[in-house]
Amino acid sequence: MSAPQPYHHVRPIAAVDLPAVAELLGRGMADNPIHVAAYRGDESSGARRHSRLMHTLLRASRSLQLEGVDRDGALAGVAGWAPPGTCRPVLGAQLRLMARGVTFGPRTAGRLLTWTTAWAKHDLDAPHVHLGPVSVDRHLRGLGIGSLLLSRHVSRLDVAGAVGYLETDRPEAVGFYERFGFRVVERADVLGTTCWFMRRPAS
Ligand SMILES: CC(C)(COP(=O)(O)OP(=O)(O)OC[C@H]1O[C@@H](n2cnc3c(N)ncnc32)[C@H](O)[C@@H]1OP(=O)(O)O)[C@@H](O)C(=O)NCCC(=O)NCCS
Repeated sequence: MSAPQPYHHVRPIAAVDLPAVAELLGRGMADNPIHVAAYRGDESSGARRHSRLMHTLLRASRSLQLEGVDRDGALAGVAGWAPPGTCRPVLGAQLRLMARGVTFGPRTAGRLLTWTTAWAKHDLDAPHVHLGPVSVDRHLRGLGIGSLLLSRHVSRLDVAGAVGYLETDRPEAVGFYERFGFRVVERADVLGTTCWFMRRPAS
């Protein structure tokens, strides 16, 4: 695992940062298999659409906690997590997300609904801290930024004695999360892509 570099600076995310966070999430995940399957078309249009969806989510979700890593003064990576009992968006947020999805056209909106419904079905019933979204800008991967965000996340879980949970659609990310104590508890095919559902026991 790459060692965190000293010029990586961790910081909380403020309201003023939300557009930059949404953009980072859009472009950072544009080549994730499930994003390609849901948005179709070219990667840059998928990135723009996901960025708009994330901007709606970030503004609508009051419970989502966010932490970022700056590198050379610019946002390089971000992790979000929902405290126990808050990982399903409240009705108002769901409606805003659906309204945003519909602006992408009915077929894309349908695929986004299939995706989010399938992931929600696998959610743990027991209380847990739900990690996601997590993204590091593409040209900055492999430099320890993701590990820095995850180390801090699992420390918080350990302090709280909380169960951790996440979903991923990238095979290489499964090994990454395993290093931080997450284990695959389920696997499912969603929109023709494999998704892994991972749990980390309470310490
Ligand atoms: C997964 C992710 C957050 C890891 O962040 P990172 O800053 O690259 O991670 P680190 O540098 O701390 O650790 C790198 C390790 O992550 C793993 N990894 C997973 N995806 C990777 C990627 N696309 N590029 C480089 N490493 C990746 C590798 O196993 C690597 O191990 P190594 O150092 O032994 O080669 C980042 O690659 C990413 O944003 N991926 C795309 C978005 C995504 O899939 N997010 C998670 C979905 S839930």
